[in-house]
Amino acid sequence: MAKGIIFFCQNCGYESSKWMGQCPGCKEWNTFVEEAVPKKGTGAKSRLGKERSVPVTLKEIELKEEERISTGIGELDRVLGGGIVAGSLILVGGDPGIGKSTLLLQVCRNLANDHHDVMYISGEESLKQIKLRARRIGEFKDTLTLFCETNLADIEEVVKAKKPEVVIIDSIQTMYNENISAAPGSVSQVRESTGTLMMLAKTLGIAIFIVGHVTKEGVVAGPRVLEHMVDTVLYFEGDRHASYRILRGVKNRFGSTNEIGVFEMQGNGLREVANPSEFMLNGKPVGASGSVVTCSLEGTRPILVEIQALVSDTTFQIPRRTTVGIDFNRVNLLLAVLEKRAGMQLGGCDAYVNLTGGMRLSEPSIDLAVVAAVISSYRNTVIDEHTIIFGEVGLTGEVRGVAQAEVRIKEAEKMGFTRCIVPKSNYEGIMANGKPGIDIVGVAGVVELAEVL
Ligand code: TYD
Ligand code: MG
Repeated sequence: MAKGIIFFCQNCGYESSKWMGQCPGCKEWNTFVEEAVPKKGTGAKSRLGKERSVPVTLKEIELKEEERISTGIGELDRVLGGGIVAGSLILVGGDPGIGKSTLLLQVCRNLANDHHDVMYISGEESLKQIKLRARRIGEFKDTLTLFCETNLADIEEVVKAKKPEVVIIDSIQTMYNENISAAPGSVSQVRESTGTLMMLAKTLGIAIFIVGHVTKEGVVAGPRVLEHMVDTVLYFEGDRHASYRILRGVKNRFGSTNEIGVFEMQGNGLREVANPSEFMLNGKPVGASGSVVTCSLEGTRPILVEIQALVSDTTFQIPRRTTVGIDFNRVNLLLAVLEKRAGMQLGGCDAYVNLTGGMRLSEPSIDLAVVAAVISSYRNTVIDEHTIIFGEVGLTGEVRGVAQAEVRIKEAEKMGFTRCIVPKSNYEGIMANGKPGIDIVGVAGVVELAEVL
């Protein structure tokens, strides 16, 4: 091994002295890339050490109510926990082309129109390209400055001189520090750049948004490398071919995570979707077997989604199982429960389970709906289209209660559903709070579910 050479996993930042096929940190394959070790003394750490801090007691700390700047986009404000906190570092990650630049340019527009000083620093697009995009979005005021630069030292200088309230860095993978020989987008460059930006944000009290591309190929460092350094991590997800996008908070030092914002990409930028349930159920088939609606709680918001299952005799030696939007292992587990506890012969069947609408859900409360969809497809019987089903399923086939059942029922009622199949343990609680406007059916196990469907 040559001296001063180290290998970094481009996905999670794992360091190793030798090349490895699989990263021990994130288990991704073929992500190690050779990088030169940064020279001593160039890192943000050495600069952090200049100001010496002293230990204090809790009492001595003065708390100011955090001032939040509204982005003018309600869905984004909610995911941020009520707006932008001054001095915070926010990472916006997502696949290329998903709409990160568009969203942030819209934020710039709203902030500028609200008389805030904003600076949009782009390393990816020319000023003309940004102008073209801006023209699609709408009117802009003059308090927005644009800056095309990738050299971090220059950016630091300009930001220090102009002191805008909010800065956008699009994207972190194009930024570089001259003192580091590794290419822009490598783990050491991305780390160093983020460190510099963090210093800027904290010392000047500027909120900085960092755009980070997610890459599957491992050509540039993924946003996971810097997740731990920033205050807030938001991921933009959704099907590139569908028009809606979901902004998900996965880390937030100033608010709750799990909140989501729903947007639709239109010809003139991203629009907020006020009623995601309606959006998610758009195009739901009528009178088809294997389709069922469930309600998942995303942060504080109930969202109705459709789950589809297709169970058919297999032509393979080993039956095929695939899932979209739902955890694969969870579905396998539920199929095993059905086989063992409800006596269904699924061993000879292929099973495909989809969450329509391009959402990804991991809440266990959708288990019962997955089970219902599989039963419906297996028997080839249709589930009444005005029925909604939620509950967690355990290994013995029991149906366990879920949190905030009332909120979910209210959402179902609002969307015009007339029957709700819920865990038996939730049933009493719901009834005790006054009978809701829709029929409630409590089930204790998957066998009982198969009977009431
Ligand atoms: P973009 O914000 O450039 O993605 P990212 O910065 O995450 O790479 O989004 C680009 C896509 O959005 C592109 O395919 C064009 C589309 N788009 C619209 O559909 N409407 C619009 O008003 C804009 C500005 C972009
Ligand atoms: Mg972009």
